[in-house]
Amino acid sequence: MDYVTLKNGVTMPMEGFGVFQIPEAEVCEQAVADALDVGYRLIDTAAAYFNEEAVGAALKKSNIPREELFITTKLWVQDAGYENAKKAFWTSLEKLGLDYLDLYLIHQPMGDYYGSWRAMEELYEEGKIRAIGVCNFYPERLADLCVNAKIVPMVNQVELHPFFSQDEALETMNEFGVRPEAWGPLAEGKHGIFTNETLNTIAKKHSKTIAQVVLRWNVQRGVVIIPKSVHKERMEENLTIWDFELDSEDMAAIRSLDLGRSEIVNHSTAETAKWLNSWKIHD
Ligand SMILES: NC(=O)c1ccc[n+]([C@@H]2O[C@H](COP(=O)([O-])OP(=O)(O)OC[C@H]3O[C@@H](n4cnc5c(N)ncnc54)[C@H](OP(=O)(O)O)[C@@H]3O)[C@@H](O)[C@H]2O)c1
Repeated sequence: MDYVTLKNGVTMPMEGFGVFQIPEAEVCEQAVADALDVGYRLIDTAAAYFNEEAVGAALKKSNIPREELFITTKLWVQDAGYENAKKAFWTSLEKLGLDYLDLYLIHQPMGDYYGSWRAMEELYEEGKIRAIGVCNFYPERLADLCVNAKIVPMVNQVELHPFFSQDEALETMNEFGVRPEAWGPLAEGKHGIFTNETLNTIAKKHSKTIAQVVLRWNVQRGVVIIPKSVHKERMEENLTIWDFELDSEDMAAIRSLDLGRSEIVNHSTAETAKWLNSWKIHD
């Protein structure tokens, strides 16, 4: 397993475990317990996933020293703004049963996220969060925040997989020293990813699976990955990517699969903005 050093000097594992779409407490707790057991130390949750308590329960039962873990959660749109963000942070921390976070992310570039950012900058300066960042900030949103904020985000978590490689987004992140982190690194299983011919040829060449090839491709371009699975054998499979290397031909062939657009969510539409703003996670 490789690690990256964020611009503030904090070390982050390059591979973690995501828990989106596991709202059932028992299933989520078991998944996190299994993930920790096979060796994941970065866990990526969010207030909007409704499973921070289950993640916290698994962390507590694992007895893994806190300093070995890297815990991320996210601030939902409903809680945007300075006061709301502070309140939401303490709620998340309590649900997770932690006294500090490793990474706190703005979940969506919606609502008063400048207010949220100021609250997060303060919590960071008070030592309550080791690193702060954003999600789904496309190049123009990210550049705007980077030039206006006191503290430039350390991470930007966006959709990144072979069908949506987002080279321009990576260039902007690189320019501002923001570490890219991939959500949906397996394209959420969509677009026939696990039967794709190009990927299958590369997988056979390295005696690896398509999932392993796809994950390896992202880490080789400097992207942190957080694949999700509720199956322990897949968690292990997804973690066994640190013993082989894709060559430049493989990298280029995978790059050629880019569709240039997301098939999961288009953040540039009015419908998406309305939908994300209307989605409530508490009263
Ligand atoms: N910031 C954001 O807006 C945002 C958005 C989406 C996700 N995320 C984060 O990113 C994490 C990962 O993204 P994701 O969960 O959306 O999608 P993903 O990790 O790309 O894909 C997960 C899907 O792939 C399947 N899978 C996993 N490993 C596999 C393997 N080795 N072979 C075959 N199928 C496999 C899983 O099924 P099983 O579970 O049945 O194995 C699940 O259906 C999330 O969990 C979440 O933490 C963030």
